[in-house]
Amino acid sequence: MLKLSSLAFLVLGFAFFLCFIMSTGDGSYDYFQFVQQWPPTNCRVRNKPCSKPRPLQIFTIHGLWPSNYSNPTMPSNCNGSQFEAKKVYPRLQSKLKISWPDVESGNDTNFWEREWNKHGTCSSRILNQMQYFERSYEMWRSYNITNILKNASIVPSATQTWTYSDIVSPIKAVTQRTPLLRCKSHPTKPKGQAKSQPTSQANSQFLHEVVLCFDYNALILIDCNRTAGCRNQVDILFA
Ligand SMILES: *[C@@H]1O[C@H](CO)[C@@H](O)[C@H](O)[C@H]1NC(C)=O
Ligand SMILES: *[C@@H]1O[C@H](CO)[C@@H](O)[C@H](O)[C@H]1NC(C)=O
Ligand SMILES: *[C@@H]1O[C@H](CO)[C@@H](O)[C@H](O)[C@H]1NC(C)=O
Ligand SMILES: *[C@@H]1O[C@H](CO)[C@@H](O)[C@H](O)[C@H]1NC(C)=O
Ligand SMILES: *[C@@H]1O[C@H](CO)[C@@H](O)[C@H](O)[C@H]1NC(C)=O
Ligand SMILES: *[C@@H]1O[C@H](CO)[C@@H](O)[C@H](O)[C@H]1NC(C)=O
Repeated sequence: MLKLSSLAFLVLGFAFFLCFIMSTGDGSYDYFQFVQQWPPTNCRVRNKPCSKPRPLQIFTIHGLWPSNYSNPTMPSNCNGSQFEAKKVYPRLQSKLKISWPDVESGNDTNFWEREWNKHGTCSSRILNQMQYFERSYEMWRSYNITNILKNASIVPSATQTWTYSDIVSPIKAVTQRTPLLRCKSHPTKPKGQAKSQPTSQANSQFLHEVVLCFDYNALILIDCNRTAGCRNQVDILFA
């Protein structure tokens, strides 16, 4: 009798467990992409000016994205709880204002809200909102892309161009893992100014983002193995 009821209890417990897993709706993902962006490129390709006339000259956080190897656009906008500004307590807020600003429109809280609701909700079983932002900040501090590139003499320049591997190599040397670079094409030229660009910029692309990949728990750095987010065999400008 006792055995039977405990078995029933176990089965019931397991059913509840399954329900819990499915109802969190934060689906599944394989790994994380931690994306840092170069603000001048955001502002260069944007169709209107950024809020600050001179964009920051350091890599800042774009986001921490739970990702799926077989389905590049997923997951997103999961069923986790929506962003709550009050969970970004003052000390965390001052850290995020430096590391994760909204370089385009200037409303940092709004940027954090959009990133959490689109991406953070999909991994909320592993990282709650506070942990999600704290972990991202730690990653940013631990892997200072601006500094890694500077040490390799890769500094912003309007004329010098780089190959994909020029930029990847020093990052790989420091992290021991393969990162991913993402580029933006040169913005289409305003009419009548076709000849005004330096020739180095004519057939080139701008470095926009550096992606580091992390395991399912967002703790261990792993190789990124997605195909390059820059056009092949095209020079890269870091400016
Ligand atoms: C999220 O929850 C809503 C309402 O409970 C449901 O209709 C929807 O299918 C869920 N979406 C996902 C991705 O689980
Ligand atoms: C990845 O996406 C595919 C296709 O949507 C889905 O079938 C699969 O369950 C997902 N895998 C993980 C680990 O999220
Ligand atoms: C900034 O974004 C937050 C969150 O979306 C919003 O509540 C607030 O009103 C916005 N502030 C301004 C000045 O637009
Ligand atoms: C990152 O490196 C840059 C360039 O060396 C430096 O100015 C900046 O203070 C560093 N940031 C942090 C958080 O250490
Ligand atoms: C860059 O070089 C400085 C000075 O040699 C060193 O202290 C720092 O650790 C280096 N940073 C990286 C990311 O290698
Ligand atoms: C990337 O690595 C994962 C895990 O090792 C593997 O499942 C996936 O097929 C790889 N994708 C590509 C494009 O190599």
